Amino acid sequence: MAATLHSGALYMVATVILVDVSLQGSPVGAAHMITATQPLSGQQKLVSQGGKFALGFYQPGGDSQDKWYLAIWYNKVPKVAPVWIANRETPISNPASSVLTIWTDGNLVLLNKSRSAVWSSNTTITAGASNTTVVAVLLNTGNLVLAYASNTSNMIWQSFDHPIDTQIPGMKFGRNKVTGVSNCHVSWRNHIDPSPGIFSITMDPNVEAQFLFIWNNSRTYFTPGKFNTQTGAFSAIPAMTVMSQPHSIYSYDYVNNDKEEYFLLTIKDDNIFLRTLIDPSGQQKGMVWLEEKQDWVLYFVQPSLCSVYSYCGAFSWCVADSVPMCSCLRGFSPQSPTEWSSGNYTGGCTRNVALPCRLSGGGSTPSMSSRDEEDRFYMISNVRLLPDGDGSHTMQAASKSDCEVACLNNCSCLAYSYNGTCSFWYTDLMNLQEDPDNKGDSIFIRLPASEIPRIKSTRGRTIGVVTVISALALGVCIIAVSHFLRRRRRIKGLHNIGVNLIAFKYRDLQLMTKNFSDKLGGGSFGSVFKGVLPDGTVVAIKKLEGVRQGEKEFRAEMSTLGRIHHVNLIQLLGFCSEGEHRLLVYEYMPHGSLDGCLFKTSSDDDVLSWNMRYQIAIGVAKGLTYLHDKCMDCIIHCDIKPQNILLDASCAPKVADFGLAKLLGRDFSRVMTTMRGTIGYLAPEWISGTAITVKADVYSYGMMLFEIISRKRNTEFGKQHMDKFFPVLVAEKIQEGDVKALLDADMRGDANLEELERACKVACWCVQADESSRPTMGAVVQMLEGLVQVNMPPVPRFLQVLDEYAGQSTDTWTEFSSSSC
Ligand SMILES: *[C@@H]1O[C@H](CO)[C@@H](O)[C@H](O)[C@H]1NC(C)=O
Ligand SMILES: *[C@@H]1O[C@H](CO)[C@@H](O)[C@H](O)[C@H]1NC(C)=O
Ligand SMILES: *[C@@H]1O[C@H](CO)[C@@H](O)[C@H](O)[C@H]1NC(C)=O
Ligand SMILES: *[C@@H]1O[C@H](CO)[C@@H](O)[C@H](O)[C@H]1NC(C)=O
Ligand SMILES: *[C@@H]1O[C@H](CO)[C@@H](O)[C@H](O)[C@H]1NC(C)=O
Ligand SMILES: *[C@@H]1O[C@H](CO)[C@@H](O)[C@H](O)[C@H]1NC(C)=O
Ligand SMILES: *[C@@H]1O[C@H](CO)[C@@H](O)[C@H](O)[C@H]1NC(C)=O
Ligand SMILES: *[C@@H]1O[C@H](CO)[C@@H](O)[C@H](O)[C@H]1NC(C)=O
Repeated sequence: MAATLHSGALYMVATVILVDVSLQGSPVGAAHMITATQPLSGQQKLVSQGGKFALGFYQPGGDSQDKWYLAIWYNKVPKVAPVWIANRETPISNPASSVLTIWTDGNLVLLNKSRSAVWSSNTTITAGASNTTVVAVLLNTGNLVLAYASNTSNMIWQSFDHPIDTQIPGMKFGRNKVTGVSNCHVSWRNHIDPSPGIFSITMDPNVEAQFLFIWNNSRTYFTPGKFNTQTGAFSAIPAMTVMSQPHSIYSYDYVNNDKEEYFLLTIKDDNIFLRTLIDPSGQQKGMVWLEEKQDWVLYFVQPSLCSVYSYCGAFSWCVADSVPMCSCLRGFSPQSPTEWSSGNYTGGCTRNVALPCRLSGGGSTPSMSSRDEEDRFYMISNVRLLPDGDGSHTMQAASKSDCEVACLNNCSCLAYSYNGTCSFWYTDLMNLQEDPDNKGDSIFIRLPASEIPRIKSTRGRTIGVVTVISALALGVCIIAVSHFLRRRRRIKGLHNIGVNLIAFKYRDLQLMTKNFSDKLGGGSFGSVFKGVLPDGTVVAIKKLEGVRQGEKEFRAEMSTLGRIHHVNLIQLLGFCSEGEHRLLVYEYMPHGSLDGCLFKTSSDDDVLSWNMRYQIAIGVAKGLTYLHDKCMDCIIHCDIKPQNILLDASCAPKVADFGLAKLLGRDFSRVMTTMRGTIGYLAPEWISGTAITVKADVYSYGMMLFEIISRKRNTEFGKQHMDKFFPVLVAEKIQEGDVKALLDADMRGDANLEELERACKVACWCVQADESSRPTMGAVVQMLEGLVQVNMPPVPRFLQVLDEYAGQSTDTWTEFSSSSC
């Protein structure tokens, strides 16, 4: 079913889908429909024929709330995300005592314990419709239809006509030109409450091929513009808001005819699970289920948060790429500091000091005889769009100061701007945001005199000196005041920059780590501290050293790293980039590093079992395979060693510190020279100074695998009473067919010898001097899992050479200048 962006072709697609969904002639099993004698209740679910969708009771708030909703979701997706909800405003408390059934008049009804209808399809009674003639069927498109049992193509009602907040493939979003009824998607109130929220999207009643984002049923805050069927794009969406459109898997198209106009999402592969929704933050988001990540992934979002009406509330300022995005205007503080610091800015800001004229009941006050006590104006420049309208009035004026006087003279006037005409604002100022193109206007905000001390104009020399002194004093004062205000407004700040990454304030990280008192470890990139988030989550916080990147580049890098999800890679939760400070916040791994587990000397009884070691080796290989091949840009770790492999509660390995080499950029060579302890894992190309590829990681992995097998540090050879460098010994023993001799003696032979041989061979292949002889990490996984045969490796020449130098200090290897990682 190839869909193109051509609207004619699309119309055909739509038709095909409609024919497709008709159940005419198809055997309809009882499990796929609801009848008066076969209602739905409790744990039961109705699964569409084809198995794609399910209908059942769903609890968005989890067990903390007794609120259940009748919902439709993608049946094969373990992370349930409802695409439709029947009773969004009327939750039931107990699904077991509620039933979904056909009412006597043929309507579909949800009855609660006392058998009253909490929800009904509520369609006008059609002739012949009754509880014996009508059935409800869940189609494989996710459409719940009410139809005549005799012919289910004969629909009475369908859920696709009553959308909630989500559009799924095959579902029209549009306007019926005959009835004049438009589809309207209304956001949830918040992430656990599906009742109607404040944001919605609907078709533009005045302009075809265009839909609008509306706040509180009254105010349009965004439109992507008119859809152009030729280009397949909306006129007003800057390309940058489309994050990564998977062109190959779906198309978005517009159909317009005499009866209706609508947008339609079409997928090309039935195994792709896609949904777009207007979410409680006022953004439209496209989500796709990624099997390998086992998560819903954002592939599209619009508009930017600064463009969402009232995102920052009243009297605040929004800057798209700052963290946090919202800040209060001068003279104002968050209305609700707790909500503000949790990232909910809708409450906005209030004045620190009330306007004096307001206190005295409006109009001019007697005390205003002295100009010093008059309100003043604070200029904000480069404002993207002046706040919109209600209460804004205009007046012709010759100059800016005429506007100022006019505004001053009316205590209700809160701000003005001047462009040849005066504009005045009398209500809360909303949506002030910086113009990214630097073409914005200026607006002047009224503040009490105490908030903006005025520097007097000079009159004569003596006064001049006095003024300089008082100006200096004032300067100090202003600094002190603003410092005080900043402290007072200190944001405990968790702020989401997308990709589920939190941007932390340095001060808050200080608090969370008790001023970096609990050190977990240190490494070449910086020290790691234990911290506790306000919600109780324990985290590991890494203080980076030697990062030369600016905040912008650092944030860009973070958004790449934040998108990387794999069970064998440590999860980045957030970061801090403030002044000189660069910190990373990771999930906390209770079992510490592989280094600690493997080489601990306290008791030899609890040495890691062979099975565990083997699983760790496979897990690390999988994590690296993902880094090398599966993420958007290939990431070379550059520092694989047991210290950088962390173990979670079930001892599953997670590779840590990936992406740091890239983060550190050109500075990496400098860091390398301090990495003496890591020398045992470095590929020869590091030393020869040629370009580094993913095969450098393969080498380090191989060296680490030797340690996992032997439980002896590579770096310690020559210092211990080992007659041969272990990797060389391994290569020789494999040739002789005597791998058992290689096993860690503390394991008392308790290992799978076949796996042991495989691991030894793989390690030898990984440490070949010639990069092209080393396998890819993907191949390593296959070899370790026994999916492919492992050939006999040659004795690694580089290691033989190294073995001859075994007695020498490793310091000779630290002087190199490679920097291309
Ligand atoms: C169907 O409706 C009739 C009344 O029209 C009622 O008597 C009967 O019990 C209903 N059947 C079921 C199964 O609900
Ligand atoms: C059932 O719904 C009705 C009407 O919505 C309500 O008055 C009644 O309290 C509900 N009964 C139960 C047990 O929830
Ligand atoms: C059914 O619709 C009518 C108007 O169309 C409305 O007045 C009534 O409240 C609705 N009932 C339910 C249960 O939604
Ligand atoms: C079933 O209903 C559809 C739509 O109303 C109609 O086109 C079709 O002819 C009907 N089929 C039969 C067998 O009655
Ligand atoms: C939304 O509009 C209604 C009236 O239409 C108003 O009562 C309500 O306060 C508005 N909500 C907000 C958050 O302003
Ligand atoms: C945000 O805060 C406002 C009040 O300031 C509250 O009404 C709203 O429900 C909050 N939103 C969320 C998503 O918690
Ligand atoms: C101030 O302006 C408002 C809005 O234009 C007007 O209603 C009010 O009468 C004015 N007040 C004074 C004292 O002029
Ligand atoms: C000045 O601003 C007003 C109100 O925003 C606007 O209607 C008008 O077109 C602007 N004039 C110029 C010359 O930009």
